Parts: sequence; C-alpha cells; structure tokens
Amino acid sequence: MTAKRSPKTTTPPEEPHTTPMDRVLVLELVRVTEAAAIAAATMIGRGDEKAADQAAVDAMRRALNQLDIDGTVVIGEGERDEAPMLFIGERVGTTRGPKIDIALDPLEGTTITAKAMPNALAVVALADRGNFLHAPDVYMEKIAIGGGFPPGTVDLRRTPAENIQAIADAKGVPVSEITACVLDRPRHAELIDAVRGTGARIHLIPDGDVAGVIATADPDTGVDIYLGSGGAPEGVLAAAALRCIGGQMQGKLLFRNDDERGRAFKVGITDLDRIYDLEELARGNVIFAATGVTSGSMLEGVKRTATGRLTTQSVVMRSKSGSVRWVYTRHGQTKPA
Ligand code: FBP
Repeated sequence: MTAKRSPKTTTPPEEPHTTPMDRVLVLELVRVTEAAAIAAATMIGRGDEKAADQAAVDAMRRALNQLDIDGTVVIGEGERDEAPMLFIGERVGTTRGPKIDIALDPLEGTTITAKAMPNALAVVALADRGNFLHAPDVYMEKIAIGGGFPPGTVDLRRTPAENIQAIADAKGVPVSEITACVLDRPRHAELIDAVRGTGARIHLIPDGDVAGVIATADPDTGVDIYLGSGGAPEGVLAAAALRCIGGQMQGKLLFRNDDERGRAFKVGITDLDRIYDLEELARGNVIFAATGVTSGSMLEGVKRTATGRLTTQSVVMRSKSGSVRWVYTRHGQTKPA
C-alpha cells in the first residue's frame, strides 16, 4: 500500500454544541503525535525496539504536558509498576482545562520501526472522561469494516466465511473481490485458511493493526474488512478513529490465563465474554490524531528535506463534526527537540 501524497481536508458545515476540547485541542494534538514520531524516527532501522519506544514516550509525554487539559491516561504504556511514564492512571497536561481521558500509543509498531518497515505511527485519542473502554493489556478479537453499510453487516458471532460473504453482499461484489486485512501471526493460521477458502484475498500485515483497522475506512487501500486478534489497547485506539471517519467494529477481550483475567477485574471488567461494539469501545465526543513514523497506507513517515528540515504527515479527526484533516508540517528543527 502506498502513502497518500496530497493533503485532503473535509469539513462538514454544521458543528453543533462545540466545546473547547473540540476545537482548540484538535491542532494541539497534532503537535503531540508529531513530537513522538520525530523522536521515534531517530531509531528507524536501528534494531532497538525499546529505545525507539522510549524516545517516542519521552517526547509524547513532554508534549502532552504542555496541553491545557486535566488529562488522565486510560490506555497507555501499561500499569504503573511496569511503565515508568505514560502509565495507566498518569495525570498529564497543565490541569488548567477540561477533564479528558487519553488513549495513546507513542509508537504503534515498535518492531516495524526497528526494522524500517511501513506503517509505524504515533497515535493519541482523547475523549470526555469515562468514554473509553479501560481495556487491559490483553489480546482482543477484532472485526471492522468501513462506513456506509447497514448496522450489523458483520458480527464476531459469525464465522469468518459468513462475514466475508456479508461484506461482499453489502458491496454488491463477488467474494473474490473482497480483501481482508489480517496480522501475520501463527495464531491466525486457521482464520487465514478460512478466509482464503472463501476465495477472498488477504492483505497480511507484519504489525500495526491500528492502521489495519483504519484501512477498512479508506477505499484507496483496497482493504474491505479487518479480522483477527491484536492488542486490546490498539483496539480502543482504532475504534476512536473509526468513530470519527465512520465504520463498524466489534472487539472481544481474549484471556489466556488468570493473570490476564486479573487485569480485567482490576479495571472493573466482570463480563469476560462480552462483545463490545464501536460505541462501547469509544463513546461520545472523540478526537484522534496520528503522525507517520515510517511511511504506510495512511501517512508518510518522518522525512528530511534537502536543507535538512524535518517533515511530518499527520491526520487529525473529530467524531462530532466528522472532520478529517491531513496536516503536512515542515518543521523549523533539523533534529528531535
Ligand atoms: P507494538 O507497537 O507494541 O509492537 O504493537 C504492534 C502490534 O502489531 C499492534 O499493532 C498489534 O495490536 C499487536 O502488536 C499484536 O500483538 P502481537 O505482536 O503479540 O501479535
């Protein structure tokens, strides 16, 4: 998949009930993901996932703390004892501003970055307090399609073959014209066989299922449906994006042992078999921003111009207005701050 080159902006005319969070933060948020992406980019291709992640975390935290918000990280780098910074529950921002919950992944695609492969992103989403599912750091079974289809077109309770048929019917095309995006993992062997058995194509991705889910909402990618399991935190971030650009998604938390079940109980989840709809993953008024670290299906990565300046490409979206802004920035700086 190739990166979008021309910046696009769509803004519907009506914006009822606008709050300060909506408008002021929208562009401020891009600075946050830009800072993380620029820092992570110094580690592209260096084979050090941890250092890449740390660089992004440090930069994102500094940038978040400049925002006039009273923010709480609800999807972050992990629990306090395992993440020194941007841990779940960490307060960020100046505290002078609205109470906001933050879902973040300073570097979505640590391995991708370490190996200089496509689609690594710096990602942040904001919602009014209490509106993101407090997903524990476990796997989540995910299914997603883009916008414009009748509600319930796909459903995790159905088989992959039934869902592939359903999206083909909804699009009015034969199954052979459907492409499913799936993370390339041994655990997906059965799923991959089932999808290929229908005659549909599979776009296998090495990592980065936030971009994989978002790809379903962008006809240019050729991806019709996302299937398979990935991180639950990434599921909430992808849901935040789909809430803004339109689409359908469901997620079901997967637990492999008592420790993982304990993580769910700790955040107040008691129904371990629940299937969450898009609105239950990310409710209400949501803002989503991402900046490309390496170039991919959605965004170009961090680049350096002939004069040594850094450039970034970002996308920022709001659920309330449905606005989607692509932001191309040429930075004054020539290296990370
Ligand atoms: P990281 O950035 O934490 O490495 O996550 C990358 C990723 O591919 C996510 O996009 C995805 O949700 C998850 O890892 C899948 O987990 P696993 O690699 O264990 O299959």
